[in-house]
Amino acid sequence: MSELKPYDDNQLKVIVTQEQIEEKIIELGKKISEDYAGQELVMIGVLRGSTYFLIDLTRKMNIPFAIDFISISQYSEQASSTGVVRITKDLDVSISDKQVLIVEDIVDTGLSLGYLLRNLKTRNPAGLKVCTLLNVEARRIVEVPVDYKGFDIPNIFVVGYGLDYNEKYRNLQLIAELKRPK
Ligand code: PRP
Repeated sequence: MSELKPYDDNQLKVIVTQEQIEEKIIELGKKISEDYAGQELVMIGVLRGSTYFLIDLTRKMNIPFAIDFISISQYSEQASSTGVVRITKDLDVSISDKQVLIVEDIVDTGLSLGYLLRNLKTRNPAGLKVCTLLNVEARRIVEVPVDYKGFDIPNIFVVGYGLDYNEKYRNLQLIAELKRPK
């Protein structure tokens, strides 16, 4: 069983258990392996939240692939309507003519992913798809494709399994709603 050990007085409520995450990752790893068998695949983790998911997901895959990471700046409130985001750490590998799978921990407004998709498309990948552990349809500002999805969740503030609140809780092995102190 997953134990919740909050660092402080914040209130946490389990939304997705460790067991549910593990099962889903086995399922996703199998599906991705089948879909990309025989193709040259680059798995791209979007720093930093997706790291736990990316590593665990790739452990459940049985095909060859390359791993790379990209980091983008957080958009400001002001920029959120325009989706202005910039790359703060770019890929090290070329994705030209390769199959690319972007791995996210969460797709919320879709602004980060929308930007990434537009940017990576200009590099002429053979294919460009998206895998996210969590999807929050209710928060969408821009329409983005989600090809592989772990869980749909409502518009709540979640932490754990890579997701943070002021850098805390990323290492929880489950997803919990955090009721932030007023
Ligand atoms: C989170 C998450 C996505 C993005 C999703 O990253 O990892 O990249 O936000 O939100 P959106 O759909 O509204 O654009 P965050 O900026 O919190 O950085 P982190 O992963 O380093 O914690």
